[in-house]
Amino acid sequence: MHKLFITGGAGFIGSAFVRLILAEISSCEITNFDALTYAGNLDNLQGLDESRHRFVHGDIADREAVLNALEEGTDAIINFAAESHVDRSIASAHEFLRTNILGTQVLLDAARERHVPRFVQISTDEVMGSLPEDENAFFTEDSPLAPNNPYAASKAAAEHMVNAAHHTYGLDTVITRCGNNYGPRQFPEKFIPLILSNALEDQSIPLYGDGRNVRDWIYVEDHCRAIMRVFERGRSGEVYNIGARNERRNIDVVKAILDALGKPHELIHHVKDRLGHDRRYAIDPSKVEGDLDWQPVETWESGLEKTIRWYAENGAWIQRARSGAYRDYYTRQYGTEISAR
Ligand code: NAD
Ligand code: TYD
Repeated sequence: MHKLFITGGAGFIGSAFVRLILAEISSCEITNFDALTYAGNLDNLQGLDESRHRFVHGDIADREAVLNALEEGTDAIINFAAESHVDRSIASAHEFLRTNILGTQVLLDAARERHVPRFVQISTDEVMGSLPEDENAFFTEDSPLAPNNPYAASKAAAEHMVNAAHHTYGLDTVITRCGNNYGPRQFPEKFIPLILSNALEDQSIPLYGDGRNVRDWIYVEDHCRAIMRVFERGRSGEVYNIGARNERRNIDVVKAILDALGKPHELIHHVKDRLGHDRRYAIDPSKVEGDLDWQPVETWESGLEKTIRWYAENGAWIQRARSGAYRDYYTRQYGTEISAR
């Protein structure tokens, strides 16, 4: 029996992880601890087996709340909770430092105090900075930490705190660094769900700069399966890069989605570039493939087809996610309103 303490499980990746684990591992029990920020959404948890899933509304930076929710016999803390959007971190970094750094430290302390046998930190390839677009270079586990934006810097700082807890106190920790995820239930501030939400309503799609920035995309369930492998078999103190060898330029991502929806490329609207926009992310996943025997299941085409279908069929979810606060964010970020349907 696994007893897992998942943080951020009402968000995009955390909820996919909770769904997958409850569906595939009948001996697993989950406490899902989430502050329900603008990105957390209880809709994402509908239809789960409630006998093995306990939702607790709480903030990872609140020590008392974490200790109250952390049950005896917990096998692992898996920390998904984060402020996760680069553009918001550029507008204001404060919450990123509080949740991503201080919150991670609170969880590390709680793991020690309660003798939780394993701590899994969900990190990101962005901690390693940007790669040149025209060279055959990839991020490996040995790439130096070189974050370029406040979000990435806060995630890199969190990694340092995780490593410090391992080195200083002998806490059993593992870190995963994944590339860009896509799939159902991703908040529509991120690129792919933004493209889909706008295109489905025939609204223009803001493309930053020249649109030639490269991201390494992975279907969310493939990421979740890799996290499970790292939890079960990863070596203590180590980092595992996760990727599906799927680099795409942003402009090609938009065109692929518009083509699949039968929408015109004229919806693409070049806008001012993101400040400090990282040019290219590309992951060498040899370690997780070789040491942990993990491979992605989905191809880019099959994962994208599932994602497009989910957004096309879940207009009500999109409408609720794009409610008042989102509309204000959109206007601030893009200088234009999204029109009501
Ligand atoms: P998300 O923004 O969709 O969800 C974050 C969740 O964390 C939300 O449910 C939110 O309510 C919760 N949360 C935020 N602050 C909290 C706090 N103080 N206490 C408790 N809960 C809090 O993010 P996501 O895309 O699902 O990302 C999950 C994790 O994966 C993050 O740590 C992120 O850095 C990492 N990651 C994401 C990607 C990606 O492409 N989305 C890629 C690599 C790594
Ligand atoms: P995003 O989904 O924010 O993820 P990240 O910044 O963590 O990689 O953005 C993915 C890429 O899409 C990134 O190069 C920025 C670009 N982008 C746009 O061109 N327009 C947009 O409106 C957004 C949100 C992102």
